[in-house]
Amino acid sequence: MSTLHRGHIFHLTGTPTVQEAAEALVEVPDGALLVDDDGVIEWCGRHADRPQLDGASVEVIDHGDAFLLPGFIDTHMHFPQVNSIDAYGGGQLLEWLTESIFPAEARFENEDFAAGAAKEFCHRLISAGTTTSLVFGSAFPAAQDVLFGEYRKRGLRGVIGRGIQTVGPDAAKPLMTSEKDAIRLTSDEIEKWHPSEAEARDALVFTAVVPRFSLSVTTETFAALGELYDHFRGRGVYFTSHLNENNRSGDGEIAAVLGSYQVETYLDTYDGRFLPGSKIGGKSLLGPRSVMAHCVHCQDSELERMAETRTSVAHCPTSQLFLGSGTMPWLRTIASGVNVAAGTDLAAGDTWFIPDVLNTAFKVHISEPEQATALHPAELLHLATVAGARALDLEDRIGNFDPGREADMVVIDPARWEPLGNSLEWGLRADDPLKRTYGRLFTVLMACNQVALTETYVRGRKLE
Ligand code: GUN
Ligand code: ZN
Repeated sequence: MSTLHRGHIFHLTGTPTVQEAAEALVEVPDGALLVDDDGVIEWCGRHADRPQLDGASVEVIDHGDAFLLPGFIDTHMHFPQVNSIDAYGGGQLLEWLTESIFPAEARFENEDFAAGAAKEFCHRLISAGTTTSLVFGSAFPAAQDVLFGEYRKRGLRGVIGRGIQTVGPDAAKPLMTSEKDAIRLTSDEIEKWHPSEAEARDALVFTAVVPRFSLSVTTETFAALGELYDHFRGRGVYFTSHLNENNRSGDGEIAAVLGSYQVETYLDTYDGRFLPGSKIGGKSLLGPRSVMAHCVHCQDSELERMAETRTSVAHCPTSQLFLGSGTMPWLRTIASGVNVAAGTDLAAGDTWFIPDVLNTAFKVHISEPEQATALHPAELLHLATVAGARALDLEDRIGNFDPGREADMVVIDPARWEPLGNSLEWGLRADDPLKRTYGRLFTVLMACNQVALTETYVRGRKLE
């Protein structure tokens, strides 16, 4: 049985770069989306132009004045920080990790605790309309098993990998393993949860190699992870970590990485060049299924190398404000050609809701001291949808409503949140139709409160 969803559609058609997003923007006020039995989009357009359908084989769901958008894609968040929103760290990244986060993550050793947290995590994702997520997992295999199981049970799409740590301060000790165990546990997780080649086309859940950041591992770990990733890369396994996030000076993260590895750039540590002087010590972890979170303080050569290897950036401005990390330079970053997708970085980012991240992105980039820019509403939608699909190498399956894509969708009902409803109904709109479209999308994305998000679908199935 097919399903016809009626509503006010916004999406970006094709495979646009962020610079091409405005041209790719499609608005269909009285729109319809026809989804087949397998959850694949058959047709998208004006309801009046819908294909002739045999009434007996189509269920019609009329969402009224609600907006239908592609599901939100969160390319950076932390499972074991599910209960750590607005945890006080008394400082920036390294203080916050030591004071609040490492001890919170250590509690996931208890499997019952982790099981409750996994349920909560998936519930929050569905409530926030996040249909696909790239997740930093727990260090503990049992906690990981319950999270993978919960994703599968709830029908969420995602990429998950256990957090790898082989060195660190005392507070991180419960999360650390030996070098050998780091590789064994990661490899076991991939074998257990990553789909086989035959399963991959239909799979919703995948695995990733996830060293926490360069300060949590050693040259020995990087060498072994390079071998491991080289072995599994062909099966579509992902790689993710943090890059150039916080505090270039003093004893902050970036200075500590450059100092302890004696490398020219932070990216070199993930690129096989982790020996002093950036000498090659192993295989690169970069590629089209690699995502680096933050990239606030990248050198031009790092951006170029990411673009060249098709490594993406997970842009997490709410987190960057919370930890005082600075602002990723928007124009310089996208000019390099690197793909930039949105991430909450929960829980340094204190929201689950991707439109909150877009709202913050707009505000920080219009306030950049060097190259201020007002992000176009289509660029905001790109960050949340197309760029996320591209970062996860899933652009042939998700990210928009083109026929052949899988129907990952959110329903936003402006009647559920009066400030949004009022602004759309009574706010001033331009006479020019294109400007009206841009203005409407901007309001939907910027003024949307999570209470207005009423339904979340993955591959045509409504998630509960
Ligand atoms: N760098 C290393 N670990 C973390 C983390 O948990 N959160 C953030 N924001 N940055 C990190
Ligand atoms: Zn993070």
